[in-house]
Amino acid sequence: MSDRVLIFDTTLRDGEQSPGNTMNTQEKIRVAKQLEALGVDIIEAGFPIASEGDFDAVRQIAGTIKNSEVAGLARANDEDIDRAWEAIKIAAKPRIHTFISTSDIHLKYQFRKTKEEILKIAVRAVERAKGYTDNVEFSAMDATRSDWDYLCAVLTAVIDAGATTVNIPDTVGYAVPTEFGELIRYIREHVPNISKAIISVHCHNDLGLAVANSIAAIQNGARQVECTINGIGERAGNASLEEIAMILKTRKSIFNVDTRIVTEKIYPTSRLITAITGVSVQPNKAIVGANAFAHESGIHQDGLLKAKLTYEIMTPESVGIPKSSLILGKHSGRHAFRDRIEALGYSLTEKELNQAFKRFKALSDMKKNIYDEDIEMIIMDEIYRIPERIKLLYLTVNCGNVIVPTATVKLDIDGNVLQDVGVGDGPVDATYKTIKRMVKTSSKLLKFSVNSITKDMDAQGEVFVKLEEKGLVAIGKGADTDIIVASAKAYINAINRLEYMKAKKES
Ligand code: KIV
Ligand code: ZN
Repeated sequence: MSDRVLIFDTTLRDGEQSPGNTMNTQEKIRVAKQLEALGVDIIEAGFPIASEGDFDAVRQIAGTIKNSEVAGLARANDEDIDRAWEAIKIAAKPRIHTFISTSDIHLKYQFRKTKEEILKIAVRAVERAKGYTDNVEFSAMDATRSDWDYLCAVLTAVIDAGATTVNIPDTVGYAVPTEFGELIRYIREHVPNISKAIISVHCHNDLGLAVANSIAAIQNGARQVECTINGIGERAGNASLEEIAMILKTRKSIFNVDTRIVTEKIYPTSRLITAITGVSVQPNKAIVGANAFAHESGIHQDGLLKAKLTYEIMTPESVGIPKSSLILGKHSGRHAFRDRIEALGYSLTEKELNQAFKRFKALSDMKKNIYDEDIEMIIMDEIYRIPERIKLLYLTVNCGNVIVPTATVKLDIDGNVLQDVGVGDGPVDATYKTIKRMVKTSSKLLKFSVNSITKDMDAQGEVFVKLEEKGLVAIGKGADTDIIVASAKAYINAINRLEYMKAKKES
């Protein structure tokens, strides 16, 4: 048995399809490049048949990624498989991932087909995929609630048809580790041709056991795990990539397996997903949560000062959390700025670096200490922006306890400069109402939240907004030392995203 566990990341498919985690094509490409740098073996780029947008994103990722395999998901039918192949065929290492359910519950209520019919459909799908590529993965959806012998029969048949990876999903997060480990062992012992395929697992976290189940599967012979950054995914999410990678590394003497994950890139990758989706990880989240390496108790701090080993089982640096987050200021030069960006796991072109540096200098005029979080915000804001139809040129707001809040806004809309004044219940309301009137958007504000990026009094405020228009939902972000300006930036960013999504949909 191989001692390498393949990491199959499905952040861009199972993760992206979950509420609040929608990404546009540019963002997906950015994430795919980061996953490649992280050392992910297989990137599931999306579900090409789902929409034109999904197809386009998968195709562009397939054309960009060189070192990781790029998988496209397809139900077990010709149309899905053909579409998936169309999207991934330009990849250096394409993989078709086809699936159908095997549990009695799904067969009876969802598919309304017999076991024999489903087995035939599964085999046909794998054969069709095999006509395009040798690299075919088959998933038996709801495997953990399937009859084990029927599951083994399906796996035997699809391996005979050419599947090179067989995936055992715990689709509804129902399994527990002992039972799931036993299932993997049972498959190894009862699927006669199993040596011709890699056993993969795909665990959901409904009972909080996705990572534990994945680890139990590895102990019983699974050699591919499907997971996502920050554990995002349907309902309670998928197994978290960072937790699996660090369990296997930190407790290597128990598992004796390796992954290709460059663990120092875990934290920047986690931050990237948060920055793109606007969905923060809980502070006590293992590995990447804000408190994952924070020791508050006096006894722990005392021990740590004497020897790190007393209370630290892995170092923050080993997952890419920088040693100290207080870094640059007004007098820091371009060189120090570039070094810090690289230490944070980003690689920028010369042009991007110049652009980011200009913004850094402007920020350091307003703010004494520039933290890593500020630098990440600059990168997200300056470099990974979608094309902007609307730009904020000017904003002043008059407010207080005795005047009606009034906003004066100047915008550049498609190259035309417009100015207007409006009032509202508060400074943000006045600003938003004025912008809304100027850009003539009918979008609805679903969510508005403000956070402080760092801890000082002069910290930047970071604003997230969520807008909805005709079924399209967009997240906008903006940061500034002035939270009203940050709010305006976030609102305009979300409107630009909506415009971009509408244009994409139309094209
Ligand atoms: O959870 C699941 O069963 C899936 C399959 C498509 C692999 O996501
Ligand atoms: Zn899933």
